[in-house]
Amino acid sequence: LPTAESIVPAELAGCTAVVFDVLRATSTIVTALAHGCRRVVPVVDASGARELAGRLAGENTPVLLAGERGGQKIPGFPYGNSPLEYPPEVVGGKVLVLTTSNGTRALNGAAKEAHTVLVGSLLNARAVAQKACRLGRDITMVCAGTQGQFSLEDTLAAGMVVLEIVEMLDPGWLCSNHQPSSSLDLADFAVAALHLARTYRDNTRRAFDHSRHGRRLLNMGLAADLDWCASLNTFQVVPVVKKESSYLIIEK
Ligand code: MLT
Repeated sequence: LPTAESIVPAELAGCTAVVFDVLRATSTIVTALAHGCRRVVPVVDASGARELAGRLAGENTPVLLAGERGGQKIPGFPYGNSPLEYPPEVVGGKVLVLTTSNGTRALNGAAKEAHTVLVGSLLNARAVAQKACRLGRDITMVCAGTQGQFSLEDTLAAGMVVLEIVEMLDPGWLCSNHQPSSSLDLADFAVAALHLARTYRDNTRRAFDHSRHGRRLLNMGLAADLDWCASLNTFQVVPVVKKESSYLIIEK
């Protein structure tokens, strides 16, 4: 489902939602948590993020304030939305308060409806597929997109998770003469995403060259971010969104 926080699909009710914003919010969240970040707090707006980071710092919580608008670091924010900004020595043991244009909105939107929200990317596609299957509910892929528009890279990552699920549950599904099993009831969007994943599986980086937001980031000199986000199944972490009093937290 291509979505934004303002469009909270009713289909999410009671299911496991996997949210993708591969370039770059969910890749940044996965990287930070894999590198020892204590938790990520996804905030919709910049002023809310600033206020919350100030409050946590006042309680002696080690906090990093991070965010992006239009792909650029927000003025006055010490950190941006590049996964490369978060090596273990920077992010280890810290709370990352993060606001981004689309990704943190999609996470907040999904958390209003879904039973469980997982954070997906190419970096952890296989681990996400395994965890989502273990949870045993219907699974909905939520592609953050760009300003409500379809995005190739998010659909690719969703397709990678679908591909992993198909290979786990019904590997014959992809053979031309195979009768799909009833245990695997894929929506048409999931089938389309699956075929996209098969196309780019051996060169995920190429998909970013073909995507509008990928080309935009390239033009901003962020090729190293794209290289990082394109890597497949680097991490085992599966971040889970939880509710904490007045805000959401994401932990592994
Ligand atoms: C977003 O949330 O829209 C992004 O992750 C944008 C970006 O920083 O590339």
